Amino acid sequence: MKVMLVWLCGVLVAYWISPVSPVTEASTATQPTTTECPKETLDGYDWPSISAGTNTSHSGCPGVTLGTVYRFCRSDATWEVADYTRCVSPTLASLNTQTGNLDGSPSGYLHLAEDLQNASKPAKLVVSGDLLTAVTIMYALVEDSFLVTCNATSAVVMNFTEAVLISARQLLDNSYSSLWTETHQVSDVDAIFTFLEKLDSFYGDVLSCFSLVNITEYSLVTENLDVAIEVFQANTSEAFIFPSNSNSDANQATVPVAVFTEADTSGHTAACIVWYKSASSLLPSTDINARSAHQDGQINSDVVSVTLHPTQVQPFNEPITLRFSHHQAGNNPVCALLDVSLTSSSVWSDSECETVSTTSDVTTCNCHHATNFALLTTLNDDDTVLKVPLNAIMVTGVVISLLFLVATFVLLLYVNRSLESDWALVVKCFLLTYIIGQITFLSGINSTENQMICRFVGILLHYLYLSVFFWMLAQAVLLQLKIVHASATSATISHYCLLGWVTPLLVVASAAGLKHDQYGHDKYCWISIWNKVIYAFIGPAAFVILVTFVVTYSSVHGYFSIKKTDQKGAAEMGKLKHAFRAPMITLPLLMITWTLKAFAIELRSEALYAIFALTYIIQGMVIFVFYGVLDNQVQTLYRSKFGHNHKAVHDSSGRAWNDKVETNKTSPNNFRASSMTSFSSRASESFATNRNDSTASLSSSTARRLNFQKKTLVIPLKRPVPSPTPSQTQGTST
Ligand SMILES: *[C@@H]1O[C@H](CO)[C@@H](O)[C@H](O)[C@H]1NC(C)=O
Ligand SMILES: *[C@@H]1O[C@H](CO)[C@@H](O)[C@H](O)[C@H]1NC(C)=O
Ligand SMILES: *[C@@H]1O[C@H](CO)[C@@H](O)[C@H](O)[C@H]1NC(C)=O
Ligand SMILES: *[C@@H]1O[C@H](CO)[C@@H](O)[C@H](O)[C@H]1NC(C)=O
Ligand SMILES: *[C@@H]1O[C@H](CO)[C@@H](O)[C@H](O)[C@H]1NC(C)=O
Repeated sequence: MKVMLVWLCGVLVAYWISPVSPVTEASTATQPTTTECPKETLDGYDWPSISAGTNTSHSGCPGVTLGTVYRFCRSDATWEVADYTRCVSPTLASLNTQTGNLDGSPSGYLHLAEDLQNASKPAKLVVSGDLLTAVTIMYALVEDSFLVTCNATSAVVMNFTEAVLISARQLLDNSYSSLWTETHQVSDVDAIFTFLEKLDSFYGDVLSCFSLVNITEYSLVTENLDVAIEVFQANTSEAFIFPSNSNSDANQATVPVAVFTEADTSGHTAACIVWYKSASSLLPSTDINARSAHQDGQINSDVVSVTLHPTQVQPFNEPITLRFSHHQAGNNPVCALLDVSLTSSSVWSDSECETVSTTSDVTTCNCHHATNFALLTTLNDDDTVLKVPLNAIMVTGVVISLLFLVATFVLLLYVNRSLESDWALVVKCFLLTYIIGQITFLSGINSTENQMICRFVGILLHYLYLSVFFWMLAQAVLLQLKIVHASATSATISHYCLLGWVTPLLVVASAAGLKHDQYGHDKYCWISIWNKVIYAFIGPAAFVILVTFVVTYSSVHGYFSIKKTDQKGAAEMGKLKHAFRAPMITLPLLMITWTLKAFAIELRSEALYAIFALTYIIQGMVIFVFYGVLDNQVQTLYRSKFGHNHKAVHDSSGRAWNDKVETNKTSPNNFRASSMTSFSSRASESFATNRNDSTASLSSSTARRLNFQKKTLVIPLKRPVPSPTPSQTQGTST
């Protein structure tokens, strides 16, 4: 056994070390540092070798554009992409100079807006400098435009608004995504966020102007931008919904009347809802701008902008409701609002929105502010990289350990077909609970799609795992009662069932009753280790472990004190060592596996997954060996069937004594005698039904059962008990 433990430790240590060593080797083997970017040709430009951290340039922009192309050699001596942000087409350059002529006259704005609309049509912008120039012209148009004073006819206001919106739609076209990316890379990482924010303030100006010139509604539906504007009378009673006729799994924003607590001077309120259908693909990549991703994940929906007029008291009493259609199947949806001014690690803030409901396709949120919103989601993408291969390791570990558990259970069932000792029953209940727990774990841990099922699985796992610990306690209590106190019947199997199955039920029922929403995590159906409910598992489990150790220790102590006082009794009691060993070795292993499991699942560390899987397999093997193979009944059966050696024969014959002799000789205590008679008679019945078993096995099995009665055991052994001849002949003949 010691050899085996040393071997197990060795394997564990080896496993712990092996995945780490290649990593450290790789990190220490650093590349020789070069200080120059190599010469290279890109997009028809020859870039000379320059030193790290410096610039080089080419006068001569692509095609019709004018200006200078720059290229930067990063400090790690790698080339940045070529910087075309200072190249610009003559058309846009001339429009840009016209922005200086804007003097507040509506027609000037209108013409420039129409020109911009014309110049920004798809494929008209060729370099990132064009995009930046178009965006600059847009800013000039929308910042402090004539809409603020709104001294214009409704036709001009309408045409100007439309020209700006169509320009915006064109600039946000997916065909310009490479230009946006380049802009984010070399010029302004927040470019698109700033663009969205400027548009928001433009919508505010549009709303106030529409209210003044009595335009009551406007809508524009394009392939990547849907706009709806509505101006309400103060007495309106209908919520503003856009798109109003969408399917239940499509985008929809609802602005309830109750958010309008104030009207403007003309007694109007107004709202604008804009769905940006391409924005998420134009956002800067998280490599460039870590702030564009939230810690909770990537953007997984269209971006929606909600603007109210006049600016209402925020946070709203009644929230606006946003329904987002998912771009990709994903877990953990978080509704967030965009705030570029945030100094935190993300431009997205999830503090103002709450998730109302979520399915695999659509998530509904309530938000108490008016701004840009999107759904952030931990995508399955992420999971396929991290979760599935790790799950394969884990599942292999759990399945192998499960096979060991089932094998142990079947083995015990086979040797105990009808005759039941309390010990065998308790062990079987323990194994059964553990097997059910493992099957539940395997089949249910990742059923995160349905929150109710996930929650149920979480609660069930909590119960079953806790129950396993309580069955360990039941084993310790049983050993204590039978061996130290020798009171076999003071606790019946129903008492053990009460301890093993009902006590954890009470714990879990109260925990689940109080905090049922804490079960079922977004990534797996179990309790998060960062969650307080985990203490409803750790607490009772720790208590049970402590009690089990104390009880087992006192049993062992009791066992050794018997040894001192009564050599012969102890010799016979030696057989019970296995019963001690099983829980004493399994319990620490259970603790280790479950601690590892909790951390492996939470931290998704590959090394932890592997160690966890390995300890699971070891645990299964240990249970198989100590509860199965080394079980006295199994050993006895084995010896009786295959025991050719003298020891086996001697063992079985030596301890085989007649039921009658024994009951006659060993009954100073009526209570024990009767209990023993019942044992013996049950034993006889059982083996009578099974003629294949040898008499030797019968006798020794009976004897083993009687081992639990330490005082009664002592007496028959004071003198050699005559073995029944048939058993001996049987034993030797087999
Ligand atoms: C590259 O050179 C241009 C022009 O001299 C300068 O404006 C720019 O900041 C430089 N870029 C870097 C990254 O040094
Ligand atoms: C749009 O551009 C075309 C040429 O590309 C020009 O013929 C047309 O007049 C322009 N329209 C406006 C409104 O500027
Ligand atoms: C509005 O515009 C007209 C001409 O279009 C001008 O006469 C008038 O003074 C302007 N009013 C204001 C308040 O700017
Ligand atoms: C507004 O646009 C429509 C069609 O696009 C046009 O007929 C009308 O003349 C324009 N009005 C003004 C004031 O530009
Ligand atoms: C709101 O008031 C306007 C007059 O100010 C009236 O014409 C309209 O019918 C009213 N609407 C409702 C829903 O009461």
